[in-house]
Amino acid sequence: MEAQTTQDPKAGARAMWALGDYHRFAKATVWELGPVLVEACGISAGQRVLDVAAGSGNAAIRAAEQGAQVVASDLTPENLAAGRREAAAHGVELEWVEADAEALPFADGEFDVVTSAVGAMFAPDHQAVAGELVRVCRPGGTIGMINFTPEGLASDFFGLFAPYGPPPPGPVPPIMWGSEDHVRALFGDRLEALDLTRRTYTERAPSPEVYRDFFKATFGPAVAIYRDLESEPDRAAALDRDFLDFATRANEGSPGGPAEYRYEYLLVLARTRSS
Ligand SMILES: C[S@@+](CC[C@H](N)C(=O)[O-])C[C@H]1O[C@@H](n2cnc3c(N)ncnc32)[C@H](O)[C@@H]1O
Repeated sequence: MEAQTTQDPKAGARAMWALGDYHRFAKATVWELGPVLVEACGISAGQRVLDVAAGSGNAAIRAAEQGAQVVASDLTPENLAAGRREAAAHGVELEWVEADAEALPFADGEFDVVTSAVGAMFAPDHQAVAGELVRVCRPGGTIGMINFTPEGLASDFFGLFAPYGPPPPGPVPPIMWGSEDHVRALFGDRLEALDLTRRTYTERAPSPEVYRDFFKATFGPAVAIYRDLESEPDRAAALDRDFLDFATRANEGSPGGPAEYRYEYLLVLARTRSS
């Protein structure tokens, strides 16, 4: 579900993720994952931490709240700007750096901990990303990721858009970052330890209709696809119906209560080789 708005795929991805209101979206959906990742990585005061594809600082701000020295990096400057405002509201200071996860502008071994919460998985060259995460992490340091799984609800969610937009760029879809075998193959022998655990979290909305409409208004990749369908109202209406079908089918909430969507993710915890 990647809308190619220009010839340059990076510019296209950046423009897509800037659509809607990512920070508003994140606060209502994935915001509880930041602290999960920070705790899993054992981030503490004094550590130097890099959050990759940080968005508006979900993990990065929480790491800074633990007293770590944090750099939040992302392809999309609009998301970093929203993160700066959120950090100021929380009274924490971080460095915000525009950067592609496939070519990070940092020195070898610069960070004690490198994190990415449902972020780096969206860069098309998985092997380049894995190489960069390891490269900028110090020997014996920690890499932590949260990635949606191919068997979980996110797969149905992204599949919903497949008939309506261009395929994601890159030979392997982002969701494969949630496959244990794929992650093991990407990191190869560059790690001393690799711990992979599946977990879930739940997103809530007053109703399936509200859930769909919230994504349509705030989630850049969805906003991009609807925008590209503006000249095809029949197809836009069909996507609306498919989206509502998905949101109705996937709802695990109790009758009379809010709609609930349980997403599975892979928590990746790695220790790089000591030498
Ligand atoms: C679903 S958001 C996750 C953001 C954040 N980590 C969070 O937990 O809210 C995906 C983020 O990946 C960023 N992104 C996509 N491709 C990227 C790339 N090649 N390099 C760096 N960031 C990228 C987008 O700009 C977006 O902010």
